[in-house]
Amino acid sequence: MDLMEKIVSLCKRRGFVYPNSEIYGGNQGFYDFGPLGVEMKNNLKRLWWKWMTVDHENIVGIDGAIITHPKVWEASGHVKNFSDPLSECKKCHHRFKQDDLAENRCPDCGGELTEPRNYNILMQTQLGVIEGEKINAYLRGEACQTIYLNFKNVLQTNRLKIPFGICQIGKAFRNEVTPGNFLFRQREFEQWDLQWFCHPSEMEKWFDYWKNERMLWYQGLFTHPDNLVFYRHEKLAHYAEKAFDIQYSASPFDGSEIEGIHWRGDWDLSRHSEYSGQDLGYTDQGTGEKYTPNIVETSGGVDRTFLFLLLDAYCEENDRVFLKLNPKVAPYKAAVFPLLANKEELVKKAREVFLSLKSEITVSFDDRGNIGKRYYSQDEIGTPWCVTIDYQTLEDNTVTVRDRDTAKQQRLPIDNLLKHLLNLLK
Ligand code: GAP
Repeated sequence: MDLMEKIVSLCKRRGFVYPNSEIYGGNQGFYDFGPLGVEMKNNLKRLWWKWMTVDHENIVGIDGAIITHPKVWEASGHVKNFSDPLSECKKCHHRFKQDDLAENRCPDCGGELTEPRNYNILMQTQLGVIEGEKINAYLRGEACQTIYLNFKNVLQTNRLKIPFGICQIGKAFRNEVTPGNFLFRQREFEQWDLQWFCHPSEMEKWFDYWKNERMLWYQGLFTHPDNLVFYRHEKLAHYAEKAFDIQYSASPFDGSEIEGIHWRGDWDLSRHSEYSGQDLGYTDQGTGEKYTPNIVETSGGVDRTFLFLLLDAYCEENDRVFLKLNPKVAPYKAAVFPLLANKEELVKKAREVFLSLKSEITVSFDDRGNIGKRYYSQDEIGTPWCVTIDYQTLEDNTVTVRDRDTAKQQRLPIDNLLKHLLNLLK
């Protein structure tokens, strides 16, 4: 079994990720997050939100609707740019306009190309109840458009001054022609975006600033930060003047982009001003200068980060499998066991310890099988610490705390346990 197969199997077996609509044969490009997956995903989103908004005075958040006015996608350029006849490389899945192709081989990887086909990657839906009178709309193809639509609202309601940022974590939908590689290329996925609005003359400075900040953030999360690299795009999306990806260089499949840092310039606000007829310009209250703010975008994939973190954390050591996840990301921070499941006094004490931790950190209680099997089971889902209640606990109120990565144990008074775990989590 290769690494990707092991991760897909672990995700299903342990309740991280399930294929969507599995009992009906599945639904290609869609996945559901299970009990452990949702904990881990929420941890990631909380960490991102704190770093990007709570820790910055001049960044605020929104949570926009998934469906917008259909004109948004004309203004954004997606209706036109997502529906040209394109040939797709059967190997790397990059798509090309016929004009850009000298031969029937992929300019990027040399793979074979499909015949040109009309692609419309935007996912359509219909609004209204009367058949024949319904209007077509799109599920958002990129989450950021709702930020541009609310630029003026946020500016006014929050009395912000340029430079400032608006963040959002939310779903995006694309009719990917070749969904695949598990969570990597889905039809419904989640993005975390920052749109940073600044003066055109400051774009270079802010582009570099955010590019580095975002790399630092990912480096702090991954088990092997050296696996994160920048890739500069030569071929640019219709809205970008300059673009870098943060990639996971150890990806076991063809595809490694986690996040894009995009120089969007004045494309979005100018286009929405033009299509809506509303002035989305900005007037500097100090100098009186009026201009269209320029945008640096950092747009990352929550699901891709989730997947690459699992791949990066997977370890096999003798017969032990463990996920060396950053404890802040791990679904459970600790697991509590009675040494023996059939000794009532041990189980009772273990329940007490479990309940004392439960309201502060995500913690699991396990009294099945023997202690070795429980360690194995918690290692496999990345639980950083296992707390065991044994006979000595009943005498001196101490417990053993076992570390996932080293398998070493230390003895601690129960009174210090929560504080100890919270300190490790800092
Ligand atoms: N607003 C800019 C934008 O959407 P993008 O590079 O197309 O840019 C940003 O998408 C991020 O969204 C990507 O870096 C990737 O992590 C994630 N993403 C894009 N398409 C995806 C898909 N089909 N499945 C999962 N994640 C995807």
